[in-house]
Amino acid sequence: MKHDVIAVIDFGGQYAHLIATKVRRAAKVLAEIRQPEDPASAFAGCKGVILSGSPSLASFGEDSDWNKAILDLDAPILGFCFGHQEIAKHYGGTVIHGKQEWGRAELHLTGEHALFKGLGPVETVWMSHFDSVTAVGGGFRELGWSKLGANAEPHRFAAIADDARRRYGFQYHPEVDDTVHGDEMIANFVLEICGCRPTWTMERYVEEQVERIRAQVGDRSVFLLASGGVDSTVAARLFIEALGPERLELLHVDNGLMRKDESRQVVEMFRAMGLGRHLHFIDATDAFLAALRGKIDPEAKRRAIGDTFITVFEGEARRLGITGHLLGQGTIYPDTIETGGTKRADTIKTHHNRVPVIEEMIRAGKVVEPLADLYKVEVRELGEKLGIPHDMIWRHPFPGPGLGVRLLCGDGAPAEAEALAALAPAVADKAARYGLQALPLPIRSVGVKADLRTYEHPVLLHAPAATGGGEYDWDALAEASGTIFKTVGGLNRALLLLGDGMPRECRPLAAQMTRERLDLLRDCDAAMMDALRRHGLYDQVWQCPTVLVPLEVDGRGRELCILRPILSERAMTATAARLPRRLLDEVRAQIMSRNEISAVAYDLTSKPPGTIEWE
Ligand code: XMP
Repeated sequence: MKHDVIAVIDFGGQYAHLIATKVRRAAKVLAEIRQPEDPASAFAGCKGVILSGSPSLASFGEDSDWNKAILDLDAPILGFCFGHQEIAKHYGGTVIHGKQEWGRAELHLTGEHALFKGLGPVETVWMSHFDSVTAVGGGFRELGWSKLGANAEPHRFAAIADDARRRYGFQYHPEVDDTVHGDEMIANFVLEICGCRPTWTMERYVEEQVERIRAQVGDRSVFLLASGGVDSTVAARLFIEALGPERLELLHVDNGLMRKDESRQVVEMFRAMGLGRHLHFIDATDAFLAALRGKIDPEAKRRAIGDTFITVFEGEARRLGITGHLLGQGTIYPDTIETGGTKRADTIKTHHNRVPVIEEMIRAGKVVEPLADLYKVEVRELGEKLGIPHDMIWRHPFPGPGLGVRLLCGDGAPAEAEALAALAPAVADKAARYGLQALPLPIRSVGVKADLRTYEHPVLLHAPAATGGGEYDWDALAEASGTIFKTVGGLNRALLLLGDGMPRECRPLAAQMTRERLDLLRDCDAAMMDALRRHGLYDQVWQCPTVLVPLEVDGRGRELCILRPILSERAMTATAARLPRRLLDEVRAQIMSRNEISAVAYDLTSKPPGTIEWE
């Protein structure tokens, strides 16, 4: 039986893909992405259409130019946020600029409707918009209005419908997890209004991917870059389902940027999974360190690492006499979107599996990536279906460029010293309102704001009230950093200094990617990971990068060590985990016992505005 299909129009950012995922997960219906300029014929056979939202700074602003003939399709259409405004406007409504809502709001329903079957009368929804619908055209009615905060004015037309035309709009984002019953709303549209049959399951996904792999690979073989992470391991299992073990070769590269003892464990794990016979291993540390020599810029480092993977891979293929193979990769969806790999996405970071040489190979049909549509949560579910051991599936994610994006390098020059000095008084003033001290630091890291890349400074916060012990006041810290980000430009992270006394002087030092520094980072990372396990918190934390930055503090040490435990589901957004003081004190003491370390700090930043990794 063929699947019914919902088309999701991608107006930019990550929205469309998230909507497509939710359609599959919540309604068990296949969703496919379409572009706003696609001809109406590209929608033939679709049982319904969803118009995504759009990032605030994207090209689809006020005078948006897209193929409005799509709105003449004989199928139900539902718009979210920007899509909602476009529907309202097209059918004679009014949209005004600057009437905004940000954050969780109450949606008050005006009555019953199939879109809200099983829900209401008041729902929690996620708002993120500058523009608003203030009137609707003939045929449309208001299904709900919103209110953001107890004293806010009601915001009209948060949900609208014209049942005769089958056109609908939600001002909020039901695809975002903060909309508590967003899944139900999406499923109601897809099942109740579009009448789709729920036929999508993970089992069918596996069958379809197996077919796809066979069709793409033909009688060739696959040579898979296997880091030992969940993505490439699940991909390996899928390749075996599709091609059998004889046509899959695995290559594990120790790039010198792995965690303590990791490559040895990975090789053992593949052997335990019965894949040992086809597993090849190479220690390519020298090649990676040579490629990284002198590189400071995060994107230059990422490209050097990605390119070196391919050089090493091709060298090994030649050495082993493996010819005519396709390159297999466990690429997942966030790798593509963060690399700016969809039509309207900014490059936040070039992922190691999306560097230009690989893009070239993809265009030449030489790469096979069976997980490229999925998020990590789905890869894990798929891995469980394929019988991969639980501990392997629930290991924290680790990025392909490994410690290469967690060991910052520098030339010793303070970044934008004058601009920082100018920011300092305003930052200190904001922080003082929360009883905190604050200092912007002369270093930079990558972040993301309004779906666009940033490369800005962190602010270091110190909580004098917590000096004598006791838990940190996480709410006050989160509020203080939120206020600082909102009111002072040029900052994208907030760090909490662990320990006593705000530094007087922080001096960036010149530092390269060296074995010694990598070993130090491995030890700091191991201290943090051991502590998470010892305190039984490893499974509750989604991921926990440890970062070293060449920064001398008050004439002491050479490296600032940053701990970044986060909570997340899809890695597209994240919040800082709030760990117990005892754990933090233990880890700090252990790390500070190394005299290279100048201070230990805790990254408080959610994503956005900070990304999970520092580079
Ligand atoms: P960011 O730092 O962009 O990371 O918030 C989101 C998630 O992606 C991981 N990450 C990568 N994974 N290759 C990967 O396989 C990469 O180049 C890469 N860069 C970031 C990161 O660890 C986090 O889980």
